[in-house]
Amino acid sequence: MAYNLLKGKRGIIFGALDENSIAWKVALKAHEEGATLVLTNAPIAMRMGEIKKLAEICNAEVIPADATSIEDLENLMTKSLEVLGGKIDFILHSIGMSPNVRKEKSYGDLNYEWFLKTLDISALSFHKMMQVAEKKDAMNEWGSIVALSYIAAQRTFPDYSDMAQAKAALESIARSYGYRFAKLKKVRVNTISQSPTLTTAGKGISGFDVFFDFADKMSPLGNATAEDCANYCVTLFSDLTRKVTMQNLMHDGGFSSTGITDEVIEVFTKNKSVS
Ligand SMILES: NC(=O)c1ccc[n+]([C@@H]2O[C@H](COP(=O)([O-])OP(=O)(O)OC[C@H]3O[C@@H](n4cnc5c(N)ncnc54)[C@H](O)[C@@H]3O)[C@@H](O)[C@H]2O)c1
Repeated sequence: MAYNLLKGKRGIIFGALDENSIAWKVALKAHEEGATLVLTNAPIAMRMGEIKKLAEICNAEVIPADATSIEDLENLMTKSLEVLGGKIDFILHSIGMSPNVRKEKSYGDLNYEWFLKTLDISALSFHKMMQVAEKKDAMNEWGSIVALSYIAAQRTFPDYSDMAQAKAALESIARSYGYRFAKLKKVRVNTISQSPTLTTAGKGISGFDVFFDFADKMSPLGNATAEDCANYCVTLFSDLTRKVTMQNLMHDGGFSSTGITDEVIEVFTKNKSVS
């Protein structure tokens, strides 16, 4: 059911790779809620062609940009202003990648060049896109900028490796830029800390299935899906959340506030009676 929450709003969505991507679901929801969109992803991700399908459904323009390249981001921002026919009301940063995770490097044997890449792609790109938006005066007053994070920013999940540092930096950037953008243009900046979700980035983490099931059992409401996340993003882009800024918002079915659940006790009880 649509509520027209984004009627007349213009947005840029980074990171829709395929139909499992969180950004894909956000684009569909934002379109359904009346927004006009530009979709963007790294040029290499474009070659897979999936994003064009999404663009057709959403009647959106696709503008490639490597989110670590200031030149690409400047081009994206300039073209988006033209294509959308005015300033931007919301941006979704749905980007994450760690070469160390991808190549299963142990945390005690990290490649530091790759570590810097992880930070650049998964965290600094958030600062870069906001800095470019500010310099181009691209945001409308009371606009909303959201990035996606994970609870490994606060707690250790061994296989998340250097992505944990990237997410901690991402959340910190949201606070620092959130202050600045609030003062400058009344733009709000938040991160959503999302449950494990079955996407390409998610499945790239070793042991993800166990991770996913554990989080599901540890969340009183169960894991939040990509669709749930899309609904939450829409509320943050809408005018109903104008005073929410500089926050890391837990969207995890209650996981982050739970010590133990009946389901987890049951699993351990069964294991004990078997051994
Ligand atoms: N899947 C999960 O379990 C989970 C949980 C919490 C948070 N998140 C976060 O959600 C966000 C989206 O991930 P997803 O799960 O939808 O996976 P995904 O693999 O579908 O999306 C990741 C996107 O990042 C893009 N990307 C990588 N390098 C880029 C670059 N240099 N420039 C521009 N784009 C680039 C990829 O092309 C891809 O579209 C990420 O920030 C991820 O860390 C995911």
